[in-house]
Parts: sequence; C-alpha cells; structure tokens
Amino acid sequence: MSSSSFNAEEHKKMLRSYFNGQGFQRWASIYGDDKLSSVRNTVRQGHAVMMDKAFDWLQQLGLPKGATVLDAGCGTGLFSIRLAKAGYKVKSVDIASQMVDKAKEEATKQGVQKNIEFEVNTIESVSGTYDAVVCFDVLIHYPAEGFAQAFRNLSSLTKGSVIFTYAPYNNILALQHWLGGYFPKKERRTTIQMIRDEEMQKAMATAGMKVKSREKISWGFYHTMLMNSSHR
Ligand SMILES: C[S@@+](CC[C@H](N)C(=O)[O-])C[C@H]1O[C@@H](n2cnc3c(N)ncnc32)[C@H](O)[C@@H]1O
Repeated sequence: MSSSSFNAEEHKKMLRSYFNGQGFQRWASIYGDDKLSSVRNTVRQGHAVMMDKAFDWLQQLGLPKGATVLDAGCGTGLFSIRLAKAGYKVKSVDIASQMVDKAKEEATKQGVQKNIEFEVNTIESVSGTYDAVVCFDVLIHYPAEGFAQAFRNLSSLTKGSVIFTYAPYNNILALQHWLGGYFPKKERRTTIQMIRDEEMQKAMATAGMKVKSREKISWGFYHTMLMNSSHR
C-alpha cells in the first residue's frame, strides 16, 4: 500500500484481523517459549536485544517509582510485565483482543496484573497522560502517512519520552521485499513498511518531537531502528 492510497480505517481493520488470527499464532510463539525454526529464533533473539536496550533507556530517564508508562501495541505483554515488575504503573493497549487476553493471562501468572491496566484500543485513539510512552514493532506496520498520524497521537500523551521502533528505508531490503525473498515463504510476516529519513523528520516535526538517541538493532532476520524521542 503506498502512502498516497493510505486508508486509516481499512489499515486498522486489516491489522486487527491479522493480529487476532494468523498473526496472533505467529507472534505469540515468537514471544513465548515454543521451539522455533532457526529463522524465527533470530527474530526472538533480536527482539530481546531491542527490549533490553529500550529498558535501559527507560531506566535512564530516572522516572520516580510508580511513574506511568503507556505500552502502545503491547502484544503478549512482554515489555508491560517487565515494566510492572520494575515498579512502573503500566497501561497496556493493543488493537487485538487476543493479544490483550494473552497479556492479561501472562501478567496474572507472573503476579503483576494489579500494576497493569489493559485496554483493547489503537495507538491512534488511546488517550490519557503518561510519564513515558513506548511502542515497539507496531509502527513498522504503518506506511509514512499512518505512521505520522499514530506517532502524533502517541507524542501528545506525554511530556516525556516516546521510545519506539520503526523500519528505516534501505534500498537492499526494499529490493528483497519486492522480490519476496527477504523471508522464506513459509515464514513470511505481515508486510513491513519502511520509512524514509525525510518522512521520519517530517513526522517528528509535525508531532513537535526531536530524536534524543537512536540505535540500529540487526540480529539475523530481525532489523529495526530503536528511537528515543522527546519534545522540542
Ligand atoms: C509485532 S507485535 C509487537 C508486540 C509488542 N509491542 C512487543 O514488542 O512485544 C505488534 C503488535 O501491535 C499491535 N497493533 C498493530 N496495530 C495496532 C494499532 N493500530 N493499535 C494498537 N495495536 C496495534 C498488534 O496487535 C500486535 O500485538
């Protein structure tokens, strides 16, 4: 889907349906402890590396105990649970009720459900005020226009940092995506939408945000850019 033909409602409908169905199975097994193929195992490992780094950045913000964090697109709750265990008050939101149910179940198993408020909602519509916002491997599914809209909403929910990942544009990866060879056919994921530098700068400017730090995480088949942004 190109940005010019972007239809926000259709896009959300497609993502909701994917992450409540085939996508739920796929990602819940990557984020769980099922035995995985070597390809998917690199995705699990890369994701863990990204989360460790993001957690470090969050801790470095020096927020007080009990500070509020929005985990936008929480998936099965891996990061939310980690935050709750570290003493943050967490709001966990996901478009897919299947994901929210799984995250709740995990939080309960790990005894931190009291510190997490769950909601089935989108990153475009979620409201509230938080000390920080995190959004991992969600915006990678949005073309530039949708990315900018969602990022703007997330930025408006905090006076502090928005820590997130996105897929930066890369000529070789774009070609591989186009050829369909980036991921073996049976392992293929939801389409990853790459964002060009100028589109990222525009989205940042529109949201009144600036980049504090960035780090590229590449691990086997897991490639993402981790960003820490704050208000100008
Ligand atoms: C690849 S998973 C990442 C999950 C989690 N952030 C993590 O890193 O462990 C992407 C998640 O984003 C959710 N998602 C996709 N579009 C969304 C939207 N518009 N609003 C809220 N959640 C969304 C999906 O349902 C899915 O749980």
